[in-house]
Amino acid sequence: MDFHPLNILYYNMFGIYFKDMECEKEKFVKFVKQNYHTFSSLPGSQHIASKSSQLNLLEVLHVFKPNIVLDWGSGIGTLIQLYCHVNARLIVAVEKNEWCRSQFISNIKTTHNVILKEELPSNFNFDFVVIDDEISLKSILSLISQESFPKVIFVEGWRNRTVAKLSFIILVHGLSANFTRGRSRSQEFELAEKEKSGAHFVLLKENSVDSLISWLKRCSKTHEFREFRNFLMQNLGLFRLLRLLNFNARSRRALRLKPKIRVQYWRRED
Ligand SMILES: C[S@@+](CC[C@H](N)C(=O)[O-])C[C@H]1O[C@@H](n2cnc3c(N)ncnc32)[C@H](O)[C@@H]1O
Repeated sequence: MDFHPLNILYYNMFGIYFKDMECEKEKFVKFVKQNYHTFSSLPGSQHIASKSSQLNLLEVLHVFKPNIVLDWGSGIGTLIQLYCHVNARLIVAVEKNEWCRSQFISNIKTTHNVILKEELPSNFNFDFVVIDDEISLKSILSLISQESFPKVIFVEGWRNRTVAKLSFIILVHGLSANFTRGRSRSQEFELAEKEKSGAHFVLLKENSVDSLISWLKRCSKTHEFREFRNFLMQNLGLFRLLRLLNFNARSRRALRLKPKIRVQYWRRED
């Protein structure tokens, strides 16, 4: 299945998957089940990407067919087979944890196009970026300011703060981006509960007015204001101060909604 640039444009405009994807879905679900099964039985598998996230990522990978992928926070290497599934030419995995790196090396057998690093290398132009670990503002900035910026940035798990940071930096850099929160694929995997399912940005170069409009369209979905407020509160000690003053929203709501309980005493009349 190959996607024409017009399909990518269509995807950018409407943010939906094509009918062709439906035909491939069964194969994708089977592949993800197998990959999840393999990695969940390996040592250190507590934090691997959920099945829903993997399926969402695989679908996006199939739309964009990237050449050079950055896997930030590779852990034990769960997502590498997904990039191989779309024949990525080069996969750069970054993992800061030494033990995870050793597990990665023993888990990933096909290493001819996979490079494992401890820190973000500066000499690549990634066209697809997957973030599954804490990432500094400096690293985000260096990714966005590459010679040609990445087409897609996929953020695994919840990572609301990373999403908010990314969205704002995209605006500051004068880029536009469509933001999609992945849905839990509980149905496909016959799960009783919803799973973490990732989110992704599709980046475009447009003029600054479009960049601003695209930010306005996505900023409620990315919860940027809430994250910014939380950041300020945690970092400036405002949170504790407001709690002391009983001014935070939860306390106010609690005060307002608190039912008035009247305690009555009856005297037993003998
Ligand atoms: C959510 S995990 C990344 C998972 C990875 N993308 C995967 O699907 O296998 C985020 C970070 O947690 C750390 N981590 C994950 N598993 C770990 C383990 N078993 N022991 C220590 N650190 C771990 C690694 O530094 C990793 O980059």
